[in-house]
Amino acid sequence: MTPAPAELQLLDLEPAASDFLAEAIAGLSSDPRTLPSKFFYDERGSELFQEICALPEYYVTRTETEILQQNIAAMAQSIGTGAELVGFGTGAGIKTRMLLECLEEPVAYVPVDISKQRLVQSAEELAIAMPHLEILPVCADYMQSMRLPTPARQPAHVAVYFPGSTIGNLEPATARGFLQRVCRLCAPSGGLLIGVDLQKPREILEAAYNDSAGVTAAFNLNLLVRANRELGADFALEQWQHRAIYNEIESRIEMHLISERAQTIHLGGHAFEFAAGEKIITEFSYKHTVAGFTALAESAGFQLSRTWTDPQQWFAVFHFTVPE
Ligand code: AVJ
Repeated sequence: MTPAPAELQLLDLEPAASDFLAEAIAGLSSDPRTLPSKFFYDERGSELFQEICALPEYYVTRTETEILQQNIAAMAQSIGTGAELVGFGTGAGIKTRMLLECLEEPVAYVPVDISKQRLVQSAEELAIAMPHLEILPVCADYMQSMRLPTPARQPAHVAVYFPGSTIGNLEPATARGFLQRVCRLCAPSGGLLIGVDLQKPREILEAAYNDSAGVTAAFNLNLLVRANRELGADFALEQWQHRAIYNEIESRIEMHLISERAQTIHLGGHAFEFAAGEKIITEFSYKHTVAGFTALAESAGFQLSRTWTDPQQWFAVFHFTVPE
């Protein structure tokens, strides 16, 4: 008989519909127009993202997982004994579980994710697989500062895990601010293990974000489906087209939704006029270099401890510590 998992206490700081509304109005009022990528991950969006991770063109998840498989013991050793592992945006938790299973005497695991359904499900699965591990899930937008729950046992230090290159969603100045907060969370003796997508030829990048099966297009358009459902917007889906381009000057993939004709969108008492061909930017996905990302993390107060990459140098996993 499988033992029943201990009751999981969810700390629910999920953004309210009013936050989505306020951010959507602000984004659609700006020039260029934007919608925030964090709202991709409703139930359907999380499902579509999982499908993206398995696409032949989307090298990101596969490459990061390979790097983990090859180096998991060294990564666990870098994190050290008796850590409280805080995971940001750990999603389905496949990579985090690989790590937890290799860690020496982890004191607790605190997964923080904006997608409640996916968070609860992965925490429940983990509780069954690792019944002695204290798990303290938090549903939140981790770009906002928050008080994290305190484990029952005192950890030796806090280790933050930020997989998936989600840091790439942030513009460099915002990424620095976020890393500064993470650095304070890790101090004095903890560290950050972070997955970062690297620069590579445009063809490979654009194929990864314009897959031939159209899953990324459905993922992008689902943001409009969600706005219609949760905010009462009136986006007509057939009048919007997905496009992802690599902006080489900024070293970022940009996900766009293009208005196929002149139209007016109503949302929250506002009317937004779109010209034919006008775009809404829904996501940036910055592509870094090993040296560039190291400099960014150092400017946020970290010190480089180790890096791991794949043979093609398409993706890097960094371990940073906090200098004394
Ligand atoms: C989850 C932010 C890492 O930028 O590659 C995948 C999201 N968007 N395909 C990425 C995404 C389109 C993904 N991150």
